[in-house]
Amino acid sequence: MTETTANAGGATTADAEAGNQTLSVTDNRTGQIYEVPIIDGTVKAAEFGRIRVTESEPGLAVYDPGFTNTASCRSSVTFIDGDKGILEYRGYPIEQLAEKSSYLEVAYLLIHGQLPTKAQYETWVHEITYHTFVHENLRSFMEGFRYDAHPMGMLQASVGALSTFYPESSRISDPDLRHIQIVRLIAKMPTLGAWSFRHAQGKPYVYPDNELGYAANFLSMLFKMSEQKFVADERLIRALEVLFILHADHEQNCSTNAVRSVGSSQVDPYSATAAGIAALYGPLHGGANEAVLRMLRRIGTVDNISEFIEGVKSGKEKLMGFGHRVYKNYDPRAKIIKKACDDVFEVTGVNPLLKIAQELEKIALSDEYFVKRKLYPNVDFYSGLIYEALQFPPEMFTVLFAIPRTSGWLAQWLELVQDPEQKIARPKQIYTGDRTLDYVAASERWK
Ligand code: SDX
Repeated sequence: MTETTANAGGATTADAEAGNQTLSVTDNRTGQIYEVPIIDGTVKAAEFGRIRVTESEPGLAVYDPGFTNTASCRSSVTFIDGDKGILEYRGYPIEQLAEKSSYLEVAYLLIHGQLPTKAQYETWVHEITYHTFVHENLRSFMEGFRYDAHPMGMLQASVGALSTFYPESSRISDPDLRHIQIVRLIAKMPTLGAWSFRHAQGKPYVYPDNELGYAANFLSMLFKMSEQKFVADERLIRALEVLFILHADHEQNCSTNAVRSVGSSQVDPYSATAAGIAALYGPLHGGANEAVLRMLRRIGTVDNISEFIEGVKSGKEKLMGFGHRVYKNYDPRAKIIKKACDDVFEVTGVNPLLKIAQELEKIALSDEYFVKRKLYPNVDFYSGLIYEALQFPPEMFTVLFAIPRTSGWLAQWLELVQDPEQKIARPKQIYTGDRTLDYVAASERWK
């Protein structure tokens, strides 16, 4: 930062076009003017750290609860344009990937940065397929949970526990060790997710069937009973693949921020992923799909929608599955999921809650409260309807989000550990508490 006097006329568009990419910041406490460079649409917070009245006092910090306007990293994994409703993984539009790709190919794309060659894809699928089993000790660990434990609680604990089976995973600077942990996590998430479900159902755990594809194997571990081989309807397998593709990454969302923040301490990727699962568990984030189903069930009939909407507008509750920090337009994933509903309902029969969801969307999108706040359906609004039609209980919905999001979290984690600009996450605060109080002994205080 250099301290100069701003030109009298102030910056003009011509200046901006001519590359005068700076801010002139006047500190009215001292009259000093600071020239702050604008880089990639941002200004470095550190530049404001140099603005102070006297050398002895701390410089300015920027205050941004929830990071609503703060860039935490440089990333090339996912691009979102919230106003235009655009989502791209490594530059590929989500609509094309959902229509033409497979989840494991998308996972490869996110992790490696480009689509795989035939040989690369076959090796990747082989590696993932042959790492779906977990150590039998982990199975005993999972059997220790209460009979009705929430699958997300089991999943976050089990993924964290995986780090104890692979102590070498703490050597995060070793690319080969990073690779094998990434393969293990992507491969084992469906196994752990399915076992969390089977545990809550009091059913025997089903081991992976390595002759099946990623989504089909997951369905087999979830629903196989006494039959020799469980092979789900191809249309349901494809619908799950599409849902996995749509949930694979979403740039710096709450759970990815958790993975990056925890990962910035240079902990192993299992522990960082467990932090992402914990963040996703919250009802404002990945837990929203479960909350949407419960909300639709509570509304019960189309006739109750108006009263429910009034309750939302009076601030009594939120319309779950609506709104987004980035999308101020329709979430492109919601559009694709809405279409996938038709394919699934062709096999399972229409979910009766669909009518309520469609009517709720129609009323909300024409109501000033939602229009003014640019609240549109997000990825969670329709996904729960499909999951319920696929016979998943609401407690499993967020597990179905965490499994595919693992490849996105790990792609972001890889960027973090290789980014020379990154350091351990340690934000500042605005201190609002007491200062320099004298301690009074308990014997005095408790008289
Ligand atoms: C996901 O970040 C990601 O990318 C997440 C995700 C991903 O793929 O990782 O896309 C997945 O988490 C999708 C979001 C799922 N969550 C929900 O559906 C829960 C309901 N939605 C809200 O809680 C909310 O919209 C958030 C959390 C998603 C976004 O919240 P913001 O950006 O912090 O916005 P806000 O809470 O400041 O809301 C702005 C205004 C407020 O009203 P006022 O105070 O201005 O009067 O909009 C209102 C909010 O009350 N509002 C809602 C609302 N969402 C926002 N009012 C009613 N219902 C809602 N759903």
